[in-house]
Amino acid sequence: MSVKGKDSSSSIPTAIKKQVDALRRQIAHHDSLYFTHDNPQIPDSDYDRLFATLVDLEQRYPALISADSPTQRVGAAPREEFTQIRHEIAMLSLDKVFNEQNLTDFDARVKKRLQSDSTLQYSCEPKVDGVAVSLLYKDSLLERGATRGDGVSGEDITHNVRTIKSIPLKLEGTNVPTLLEVRGEIFLGKRGFARINAEAEKTGSKQFVNPRNAAAGTLRQLDSRITARRPLQMYCYSIGVVQDIELPPRLSDIFDLLEAWGLPLNPDRRVVDGIEGCHYYCKDLQEKRAGLDYEIDGAVIKVNDLALQADLGANARTPRWAMAYKFPAEEVSTTVLDVEFQVGRTGVITPVARLQPVFVGGVTVSNATLHNMDEISRLNLKIGDPVIVRRAGDVIPKVVKVINSTDNKSPREIEIPQFCPACGSAVERDGEVLYRCSAGISCAAQRKESIRHFASRSAMDIEGLGSKLIEQLVDLEILSNVADIFSLDVEKLSAMQRMGVRSAGNVVAAIEISKHTTLAKFLYSLGIREVGEATALALANHFGNLGKISRAGLEELTEVPDIGDIVAGHIVVFFSNQENLARIEELRASGVIWQDVIVSDKPSRLAGQTYVLTGTLKTMHRNEAKARLIELGAKVAGSVSKHTSCVIAGPGSGSKLEKARQLGVKTISEEEFLALLDDST
Ligand code: IVH
Repeated sequence: MSVKGKDSSSSIPTAIKKQVDALRRQIAHHDSLYFTHDNPQIPDSDYDRLFATLVDLEQRYPALISADSPTQRVGAAPREEFTQIRHEIAMLSLDKVFNEQNLTDFDARVKKRLQSDSTLQYSCEPKVDGVAVSLLYKDSLLERGATRGDGVSGEDITHNVRTIKSIPLKLEGTNVPTLLEVRGEIFLGKRGFARINAEAEKTGSKQFVNPRNAAAGTLRQLDSRITARRPLQMYCYSIGVVQDIELPPRLSDIFDLLEAWGLPLNPDRRVVDGIEGCHYYCKDLQEKRAGLDYEIDGAVIKVNDLALQADLGANARTPRWAMAYKFPAEEVSTTVLDVEFQVGRTGVITPVARLQPVFVGGVTVSNATLHNMDEISRLNLKIGDPVIVRRAGDVIPKVVKVINSTDNKSPREIEIPQFCPACGSAVERDGEVLYRCSAGISCAAQRKESIRHFASRSAMDIEGLGSKLIEQLVDLEILSNVADIFSLDVEKLSAMQRMGVRSAGNVVAAIEISKHTTLAKFLYSLGIREVGEATALALANHFGNLGKISRAGLEELTEVPDIGDIVAGHIVVFFSNQENLARIEELRASGVIWQDVIVSDKPSRLAGQTYVLTGTLKTMHRNEAKARLIELGAKVAGSVSKHTSCVIAGPGSGSKLEKARQLGVKTISEEEFLALLDDST
């Protein structure tokens, strides 16, 4: 980095100096809006113009280049090694608990030590899974960045920290202390992680196992030009050394101050009253976990009052005023005992790992998908290997990595079977990575899977007709296709294992109820290749009835939003198959009836708009609200961003509502939403 002394700039016109200053301030402001607040207020092209003007001026007047110029973020030539830095105030760690009771015990211990019965206020924050760092600002300028290391000394990573766009090179605002050390977590968001792994895959380089490893690896780059290309982020969570400022009384006030000076703070932090507030926060955060764009491994709760924090003090390694509430791990290690092959609804053969059972993501898991044979080669997996398994939210568990394969003393190669494990027919290769059973609907496994799909909740929603029951009914040849479901009766069903007359009666009743459905659900239940729920809904809304869909050609089908050539091809093939048409007629004859959609000529009122639902609606289920919005042409997204058009906020709305307010996104209540629906009928 070329940082010249001030002296040589004395001959430069004042107007130029002022212009350079103004440009730097503007760019820092827009960086903060873009990278910290996810709320850009100028188009990228305007930003690029500001940046280019600054680069141009600095080239013409190199003496003006300063360390806090945004042009100096781009990364410098590789360093030889990292220097060690001693933390003036040790960077402590956190005690942790794994259940609610132990969190309650923590509150009791704190109160006992304070000899107080009063309800305590807590600052609750996500426990971000990244790398702990310390940043030092001297006279508002970013002077140094260091890793936590062992808490006493860490490594100097200033060259890398400077490349992170959400970290200000200069603090703005009033009352900035002459010396300020802020601490926090540097991490890679889930999207950023996916992006760099996708790039690594393209270039054939090694992929990272998880965002934390990727962030740690990126911060330990000697070449900061590499760091600069990775979208690292930071959330600050405490301060260290501070000079020349009187601190406010509460931790949450400090957070507000840091934010006002331009530092990035976690928007999902909250102040709550009492340990009940903490329990509620932890539960809520756990529910939101899968939807957050960054990985967390728990919540951190901290006594908010700084005087009380001082009274409580610290043990050797951890403060007495804070506690980490750890969520169940989403990644754990186990062993692959065997690999079996499952046959799906369309005959695709999927390898599934049988695992030594492990507790992961809150449940015990003994199977994990391996997706396809390509995935097995990518993982270089052999039977008997120790592996890392991941289960996040409700997503099906997957094997993410083989660890210490040398520990596997008798590795066995995994080979695709030549014959279908269910029906013995030949297995054929389909395209680059897929293998299929060649038998089609005569394969029992395919029949079972297509019936299970037909009866599932999002399709015909036949309660009680689950996998186990379907398996028996197909094996006994009582069911051979989906239309047979409608000739099941109590007598046939009650002969099955674990089926009393009463349960059989319930299933028959559920079958009867399922006969009345919607066009979209019926279409989805048919199991046309690559026609998921959203595509089925889009087709129903576009064409209005099954006749039109079944007669539509490729061109008409691709006019439907999000339907491309491949899906359109599958739809045409499905409806040109006489057997499929006969099955639909059979279903109709059994009394299955679906509601068509009235397609208006008017353009959809909410076309091109993206809605987000949050909180609980009193008058309708979230799925219904979603369907109504889609009917009106809107897209429904799971998280709020600058692209969101409107947020519908029911009672209990949390961070999404707050984010909408921060970004200036329109929010409406349930009543306003109902009025919007009324207007459109
Ligand atoms: S507070 C004295 N707050 O968790 C308090 N830590 O085991 C020290 N972490 O090394 C830490 N999110 O890397 C705190 N909101 C948060 C955090 C957080 C993640 C990490 C941090 C620390 C580790 C403690």
